[in-house]
Order: sequence, then structure tokens, then C-alpha cells
Amino acid sequence: MRDLLPAAVAVVVAEPPDWEGVLLPEEQAGLGDRVVDSRRRDFTAGRVCARRAISALGRSPVAVPTAANRAPVWPPGVVGAITHTRGYCAAAAARADEIRSVGLDAEQHRPLSPGVVQAICLPEEEAQFPRLPSGVSWPTVVFSAKETIYKIWHPVVGTWLDFHDATVTLDPEAGRFTARIAPARVAATSVHAPATVSGRFAVDGDLVRTAAVLLRA
Ligand SMILES: CC(C)(COP(=O)(O)OP(=O)(O)OC[C@H]1O[C@@H](n2cnc3c(N)ncnc32)[C@H](O)[C@@H]1OP(=O)(O)O)[C@@H](O)C(=O)NCCC(=O)NCCS
Repeated sequence: MRDLLPAAVAVVVAEPPDWEGVLLPEEQAGLGDRVVDSRRRDFTAGRVCARRAISALGRSPVAVPTAANRAPVWPPGVVGAITHTRGYCAAAAARADEIRSVGLDAEQHRPLSPGVVQAICLPEEEAQFPRLPSGVSWPTVVFSAKETIYKIWHPVVGTWLDFHDATVTLDPEAGRFTARIAPARVAATSVHAPATVSGRFAVDGDLVRTAAVLLRA
């Protein structure tokens, strides 16, 4: 993920021992007691990476609890995001006075079923796929970009965004995506909500990765 985010963002990718790391008591509460082993491992790797990313900003690596809406709770003055998928986990953190919000997402690089593609993509997004290079599941890239967008949007705007509330345009040569947020969603907020979100993506073998930041105005 380091390659997809600006230098002001601390990025940590999990190493194998991190899946067996230690959770702090405030973090354990967000996981609950009755979870399957894979969920415990993913959650643990995410928290270990999150604390290490906070530490890389020169801050104390305090606990990262879970809010009622499932979002991680970053310490005051810090923004961040976590992603995990099978065998891969990463966290990003930045100073809130430099970066308004950060998002990142990783997905397995697999084709999506036609029904899922329809649920994720708007017709104009699907229309661009035939023009893009073959060998990549472009709907999966759009899906990941939208998960990144939600992780950026929700912590600062506080409202829900549906998959059809963002229109993602992909630029494979630059490894960039641009998303236009539905004007009605932008207008329906009491905070200054972004009308567009731009980010970067990469497809390496089995993994699709996306990331973006919202800069301070
Ligand atoms: C929250 C969501 C984006 C997570 O994405 P995912 O691909 O399922 O899973 P990832 O492993 O990449 O990310 C999970 C992490 O997201 C973070 N997360 C959960 N809710 C969040 C929120 N509201 N805001 C920010 N981050 C959130 C958590 O850190 C979570 O990991 P944890 O439970 O171990 O702490 C997804 O589950 C979801 O609800 N999507 C629907 C909304 C959406 O994407 N709309 C499209 C907008 S264009």
C-alpha cells in the first residue's frame, strides 16, 4: 500500500507474526468473545498494523477500539483506515491536521458474478470495461475503489453511501481512479462533503489494492 499513498501517510503491511499478535483490552471489546479464528486473526493483524502506523507518526501506539458503527476509533489528531483480506492486511494513519481522511482496501483478484457486478457497478462504469486491457477483473477494482471511498467518506461525513452513489472512472495507464459522488448525497450533508474522490489502484497477481486520501482544503 505504500506505493499508493502520499508520504504524509504512514502505511504498515502485516508480517506473518502480526496475525498472532496481542490485542489491547479496549480492542478486544470490539472483537467480542465468540468469533471464528480467521476473524480473530484478521482483526488482530489490523490492530497491530494500526498501532504501528500511529507509532510511525511519532505518537504513542495507543489502542484502536471499535465504534458502534464498526469503524476503528483513532486517537485524537489521527485519521486512518484498515483493510484485510485472505493473507493480506494493511493499515494507514496520518496527522489529521495534514490529511482530512484516508481510505484503503484490498480484495482477492477474482471475477465477480454478473449479479454482484450489477449490484456494485452503474451501467456507465460497466460501459468502460470493454475499452480497458484484458486480464484484469475490472469490476473487482471498482468494488475495491468503492470500499476505499466509503472508508474515506463515512468518518468525515457520517452518512451512508450506496454502491450506486459513486461513479468510478479507471485510468489503467496511470493506475488511478476518479469517483464522482452522487450530487444528492453531497448536498444532503451538514459538513463539507467531497464531490469527487481520486485515488490509486494496483493489481498484482491475486490482489487488488486501492487507496486514496482527502486533503485538507
Ligand atoms: C465497511 C466496509 C467498507 C469494509 O470493507 P470490506 O472490504 O468489507 O473489508 P476490509 O477488510 O477491507 O475492511 C474492514 C475494516 O473496515 C473498517 N471499517 C468498518 N466500518 C467502517 C466505517 N464505517 N468507516 C471506516 N472504516 C470502517 C474496520 O477497520 C474494518 O476492519 P475491523 O473490523 O477488523 O476493524 C464494508 O464492509 C461496507 O460496509 N461496505 C458497504 C458500504 C460501501 O462500501 N458503499 C460503497 C460506497 S461508494
